[in-house]
Amino acid sequence: MRPTPTWLVTEFHDEDDLGVVKTGKEAQINLIERHGHDGRTCVFARKRYLPREVKQKGELEALGVQRSSAFVHDVQYREGRQFRKSRDRRAVERMSTYGKRLLQDRWMGHEHEVMTRLWHAGLSVPYPIAYDGNVFDLEYVGDDERAAPQLHAARLRAEQLPAAFDQLVDGLHVIVAEGYAHGDLSAYNVLWWDDRVWFIDFPQAVDIAANPSGIDFLHRDVLNVCGWFSHRGLDVDGEEVFADVLRSL
Ligand SMILES: Nc1ncnc2c1ncn2[C@@H]1O[C@H](COP(=O)(O)OP(=O)(O)OP(=O)(O)O)[C@@H](O)[C@H]1O
Ligand SMILES: [Mg+2]
Repeated sequence: MRPTPTWLVTEFHDEDDLGVVKTGKEAQINLIERHGHDGRTCVFARKRYLPREVKQKGELEALGVQRSSAFVHDVQYREGRQFRKSRDRRAVERMSTYGKRLLQDRWMGHEHEVMTRLWHAGLSVPYPIAYDGNVFDLEYVGDDERAAPQLHAARLRAEQLPAAFDQLVDGLHVIVAEGYAHGDLSAYNVLWWDDRVWFIDFPQAVDIAANPSGIDFLHRDVLNVCGWFSHRGLDVDGEEVFADVLRSL
């Protein structure tokens, strides 16, 4: 177990929302400043999922960003993998609004759980601070001026590519050694900051042993990122990297 990062303020009296860092297709990231009892402050990212299939603006507002946490208590769902009540399962099957909320809750709990495992295993992932059934707080990668760019937008110089690639492969080994496939790995879900890669966005990560498609997801992840690097002129063979990474399983 790695010790809790020292920058994190845990005893606090107030939090300010400094604004939106990024709104993606599936989630919105805000920057939060926390004020500690001891006078220290820290800044971190707060991730809220936008409901997947809900497109109407009114519904988005009701469920998404300004959503209250009332439904979470209603659901009594924590971090388990089962829906505890058959009413919940039926709601998901029907994909009622209530069901969509349940799924959101499940994705976030899962993302927090996977990132916690991987952070402790030493992977370069933002430190997962807490998941409260409503929002997921995690380390912010960036500085006062800008959030870390996604790898595809980071304008790496040719001489930086080999080091970035090595870090990525090292990271893949850690992920696989913990038994996971990221499931959506690409140059969009890797950040580049201070000459370092950061893996993000794990809600769809799968347990390779438990999921029959786990190896296929891993294969796709590896080919995706290798393709990105070879497109930029690096001599990489995706299948070779895949075989290498599998040795960590
Ligand atoms: N911890 C972080 N620090 C800085 N920026 C972050 C952090 N987490 C996410 N971001 C930014 O927010 C974007 C969206 O986050 P994430 O990939 O986790 O959600 P998403 O559901 O995949 O959204 P999208 O549909 O845009 O990919 C990231 O691509 C990244 O630019
Ligand atoms: Mg993403």
